[in-house]
Amino acid sequence: MKEIFIATSNLHKVEEFKEMLQPLGYNVKSLRDLDETIEIIEDGATFEENAYKKAKSVYDVLNVDVISDDSGLCVNAMDGAPGVYSARFMGEDTAYDIKNQAIIDQVQNADDKGAQFVCVISHVKADGSHKEYRGEVHGEINDRMLGSNGFGYDPIFYYPPFATTLANVEPDKKNTVSHRGLALAKLLEDLQ
Ligand code: IMP
Repeated sequence: MKEIFIATSNLHKVEEFKEMLQPLGYNVKSLRDLDETIEIIEDGATFEENAYKKAKSVYDVLNVDVISDDSGLCVNAMDGAPGVYSARFMGEDTAYDIKNQAIIDQVQNADDKGAQFVCVISHVKADGSHKEYRGEVHGEINDRMLGSNGFGYDPIFYYPPFATTLANVEPDKKNTVSHRGLALAKLLEDLQ
């Protein structure tokens, strides 16, 4: 059986990757399966850089096929912020209700309310070569938080084709259009 390593300890991400990769015959492992700790420094200026750095840190220790992803919300009226700092925006431990309200406040008087969720998956192969896959979903910052599904910035991300926010639709429906789903679909096309 082919083995692929996911450079994350985030259970939600591990499960999502397992669901997609196991049917293709991959045995999926993650940082949760290791006894040792691998230091991963996420200090890149772009999603591509961060995704690659995470995968490469793990590849350098294990020398196997590694996948990792980096994602975030880019708001036009905030010059693309919080972008690669999405998890750290206003502090890692700050509640998303507070982060989301701060974004609404900054965008409400702007002419351009556009925003994108971006996800880049990096695949470092056992031979050391690497490739990145990018997925984006385009929408707008809503004027209030809406919905209780999803996580993070989903309650303020209005997706016009659904006529509501991503937090206000079922997870399966979000996955059909999401940045992570799109990047993953591109990776799967290559793996097949
Ligand atoms: P990462 O784990 O370094 O990729 O950080 C991703 C951060 O971007 C998350 O902590 C969220 O703040 C935000 N984010 C990424 N994808 C989504 C999404 O699908 N919905 C809402 N927020 C997201």
